[in-house]
Amino acid sequence: MFRFFCQSVSKHVIEDNLEKMSRLKEKKVEFRKKLLRWYRTHRRNLPWRQTEDSYKIWISEIMLQQTTVAAVIPYYERWMRLFPDIETLSQASLQKILKAWEGLGYYQRAKNLHKAAQIVCKEYQGHIPSDYGRLIRLPGLGPYTTSALLSFAHNLPYSVVEANVRRVLMRLIRFKGQPPEDDFFSSLLKPLIPLKNPGQFNQAMMELGALVCKPRHPLCLLCPVTEFCQAYETGEQEIIPPPKKRSTQKIEAVIAIVRRDRRYLIQKRPSRGLLADLWEFPGGKRKPSESCLHALRREIYEELGVKVIESKFLTKVRHAYTQYQVTLYAYECRLEAVPRLEKGRHRWLTLRGLRRFPFPSGSAKIVRFLEAMEKSF
Ligand code: ADE
Repeated sequence: MFRFFCQSVSKHVIEDNLEKMSRLKEKKVEFRKKLLRWYRTHRRNLPWRQTEDSYKIWISEIMLQQTTVAAVIPYYERWMRLFPDIETLSQASLQKILKAWEGLGYYQRAKNLHKAAQIVCKEYQGHIPSDYGRLIRLPGLGPYTTSALLSFAHNLPYSVVEANVRRVLMRLIRFKGQPPEDDFFSSLLKPLIPLKNPGQFNQAMMELGALVCKPRHPLCLLCPVTEFCQAYETGEQEIIPPPKKRSTQKIEAVIAIVRRDRRYLIQKRPSRGLLADLWEFPGGKRKPSESCLHALRREIYEELGVKVIESKFLTKVRHAYTQYQVTLYAYECRLEAVPRLEKGRHRWLTLRGLRRFPFPSGSAKIVRFLEAMEKSF
């Protein structure tokens, strides 16, 4: 256990925390009892908690990475209608999968699900492995998802460490400073996890973090385990863990709405990098000293090899992605000639056709704007 700690925290911090942890460990039976009793009456009735089907739990856990429960629920339900089992998912087209994921962000998750489903169908005859070693080798499964899947679907005593659990543990032992590595939290959890119903214990820790032991304003008066909480004892629960420093970059981009016989020109993004394989309207970033119109003409000439001869401002949309905020300025454009397009990379589509293609959220807002515009004519 010491070896893990040494990688991330200094020796006196280790000793200090082991001592604080042992206070919690001594009362583990009482701690579990109070936590689980609270969980049974206060837990949310989430769709993926009504099942032990590892396919369903796997999908929910992948969707829940970096995404809130409220945002995930409608996606999860639609996904289960479109791809009710792993076989259906493995045979679906990537485009259909990305369309079902549109708006959830981190699209690599959807691509990994597709690849993993194909591997499971080919190598394991459609049975999702139920051992750590095989599961973690599947694309998109890291230590968190693997442990969560084994714990929730198979009730195995793996420690499930995610943001809510880290915060609860840090407050319980009054751990000051930035959160250390997950090995540290796993070592704290291991002695607490009961052999009977470990899945429920893990869910209860997460639920406590989500509903009560909240990041900014923890609701300590509603907490079933304050008597074990060392941060509560000293009144430091609001400053543990310390707030993260976040800087969001702002990006401005211009896009061209090019229409021909009621069809719109769209193009596929490269298969690597940001928002890979999604579709978008032609255009690009505005340089710091450039006007929007100049950027529009430059980008369209660079991308399509033709000049914009007329343009009319249509709309401006904003979208906040996790690391940056983008403002898109959309212009309806007339080009000097029909551009020569690359097969497979460009498409002319009606509005109905656009609905079948996966777009980044900012561009999807432009699609909705075009739909509203056509309806009003
Ligand atoms: N966040 C990650 N996994 C979750 C789960 N199973 N329930 C609620 N929130 C979660």
